[in-house]
Amino acid sequence: MVLIAPSILSADFSNLKEEIIALDKAGADMIHLDVMDGCFVNNLTFGAPVIAALRQYTKLPFDAHLMVQHPQNLIEPLKKAGVDIITVHQEAATHLDAILSDIKKQGLKAGVALNPSSDENMVKYVLDKLDLILVMSVNPGFGGQSFIPSSLDKIMRIKKMIKGRNIFIEVDGGINPMSANQCIAAGADILVAGTAVFKGGTYKENIESLR
Ligand code: DX5
Ligand code: ZN
Repeated sequence: MVLIAPSILSADFSNLKEEIIALDKAGADMIHLDVMDGCFVNNLTFGAPVIAALRQYTKLPFDAHLMVQHPQNLIEPLKKAGVDIITVHQEAATHLDAILSDIKKQGLKAGVALNPSSDENMVKYVLDKLDLILVMSVNPGFGGQSFIPSSLDKIMRIKKMIKGRNIFIEVDGGINPMSANQCIAAGADILVAGTAVFKGGTYKENIESLR
């Protein structure tokens, strides 16, 4: 069954503690944390101190998606803050293989995110170090954008490429009940959703409608 990872990018930032507790109660499988530095992407969100403050309010895995120019600097602080998965952008990681090794050394799960324009073959030589490949189905930086249909083809290609390996395919951006269905059919294991979880309806209903 597909896992749902609500992104707190669309949550009420003045009330993150209660939002995390509500997502846990609503049946979220993990909490997706969009860390942005105002450099790799224009938007600027939160980092290790905010994540550390939230850690005590749920036992759900913390899935950190780093949209930052220098992801290597954040690995240790995020480990200390209590994250479980660190995903770095292929486009920001000059020494991707080394960064993935650093993440694994911290005892964390390691992921690589691919922008919509990036070729999945960019991760071909690091598959042994990967627990997760994050397919960006919008351009990173903001919630509420439309799903880019070519992502489906990329999910299918990645599924073939990782054959037999224990690597999750996560899809992030523009996920709604319709695109969720298409992603699941293409082979997605984890769906990230901001707008679809937080806008209208209850979190529980919204999460269920994506499964
Ligand atoms: C975009 C972020 C996403 C974002 C998704 O850069 O990585 O996680 O929160 O938001 P929606 O679901 O609204 O597209
Ligand atoms: Zn994300």
